[in-house]
Amino acid sequence: MKILMVSSEVHPFSKTGGLADMVGALSKTLAGLGHEVSVFTPLYRGLRERFPAMEQMDWEIRLPLGGQMVEASLWKLTDDGSATIYFLDQPEFYDRDGIYGVAGGVFPDNEARYLFFSKCAVHLARHMTSPPEVLHLHDWQAAPAALLVNHQKWREGWGTAPRVCLTLHNVAYQGHFSANTFSLLNLPWEYFHPEGAEFYSGFNCLKTGIMYADLLTTVSPRYAREITQDQGHGLDGVLRKRAGGLTGILNGVDYEEWRTEDNPHLEHEFNASDLRGKAKGKAALQQKLGLAVSPNTPLFAAVTRLAGQKGLDILLPVLEEMLAANEMQFVLLGSGEPSLEHAYRTLAERFADKVVVQIGYDTGLSHQIEAGSDFFLMPSRYEPCGLNQMYSLRYGSVPIVRRTGGLDDSVEDFNDDPLHANGVKFEELSVPALTDAIRKALRIYADKELLGILRRRGMSADFSWGQSAREYLRAFQTPSA
Ligand code: ADP
Ligand code: GLC
Repeated sequence: MKILMVSSEVHPFSKTGGLADMVGALSKTLAGLGHEVSVFTPLYRGLRERFPAMEQMDWEIRLPLGGQMVEASLWKLTDDGSATIYFLDQPEFYDRDGIYGVAGGVFPDNEARYLFFSKCAVHLARHMTSPPEVLHLHDWQAAPAALLVNHQKWREGWGTAPRVCLTLHNVAYQGHFSANTFSLLNLPWEYFHPEGAEFYSGFNCLKTGIMYADLLTTVSPRYAREITQDQGHGLDGVLRKRAGGLTGILNGVDYEEWRTEDNPHLEHEFNASDLRGKAKGKAALQQKLGLAVSPNTPLFAAVTRLAGQKGLDILLPVLEEMLAANEMQFVLLGSGEPSLEHAYRTLAERFADKVVVQIGYDTGLSHQIEAGSDFFLMPSRYEPCGLNQMYSLRYGSVPIVRRTGGLDDSVEDFNDDPLHANGVKFEELSVPALTDAIRKALRIYADKELLGILRRRGMSADFSWGQSAREYLRAFQTPSA
């Protein structure tokens, strides 16, 4: 099958969160299964230097964006047996510090940047030498392409238009703009109505994709149910209407990347049958962070975007209480909302000998934290899939997660199923419930036999992409609802 993926971030080229990991790994897996896969993504700052093998194509693009004509060009990176990556080069839009914005803020022209991106995706899909049978769009930044494809199919004679699949990674981010923004698409206003691109008098990119895509997927089965019930961030009703065409497919893990052996980011190797390297990794991490090198002090960790979604506001008072009363350490790596950055920095100052907070983005350190920590905290308000809990399972860091979205689909709690337990789950997003979960973790830590069992089970859990990729292939072929 010929598949063109469209995503505003793709690992290893650009990343702010799990979207990049997902698109990078799914495209690689589908290519590995023998499909002809390409990925379309913006050429952000520094990419040409980091990937000198990319080549400029003999292809100039000139497309209207509202009242102006915008020019761009394409670069291509090919690697035998893997997906071809097409980069959209439009320096005014994409050659900037930051992907969506800088220092916790967003660029004021993101609508123009990503509507142009969506237009160019459709232009590429229509005119490339080997056109796709499936156009796989990811999130609001690519979603308007669904309408553009249909318009060209219905009105502009595109008889071989691809099927359009839209994957919803997080319905809280919708790309909702003023009605005027719709004019940047240069489409007739007849699409701008409540059953189309309009949402509460504005133009909503994600809703547009939901209305016009042939099929919809999201990144875990439980999140698929949640967003059609009460967690659709306003799109619940729209999603219910399209629920017949919505499938929840759990993301996988790229175990070539997230591995505890022969990993360039890790000094000490380990595996489920030999955890000595994990103890060494913990000591190395404690030392690197300036914490006491103490093998018997439980080390809790979080690596995360500092966003409301992640429940870090609830975690803060819980940590205050638990750190004051218990021997434990905590490390956080993350960046995002300035108020959360500030609050966690303050926590680190108050518990200078127990807490380290690193504000920033650091891939190597994220691997070292997964490998060196004992428990990994994800108290998310909601979590479409979540990848870090799966990474921490593989790295023997027992996940403590709220029972929501993909966290619920990927972690097993002792109370639910002692024979398959690999983590700790709690239900309510509240200080008492999260405090109880951390107390439970401390009891597990004190019971070395149980800790070993949970760790080994987590490490042998298999979330490789093969099965999920096959589910995507099935979804691509399912007739539209
Ligand atoms: P989300 O996509 O909502 O942020 P996920 O759990 O799906 O959540 O994916 C987060 C990804 O981003 C993981 O690969 C995680 O390691 C990475 N990540 C998040 N924050 C940082 C950071 N500050 N430094 C390095 N990696 C980070
Ligand atoms: C989004 C979600 C996250 C998910 C990721 C990849 O960023 O917040 O839960 O794992 O997309 O699908």
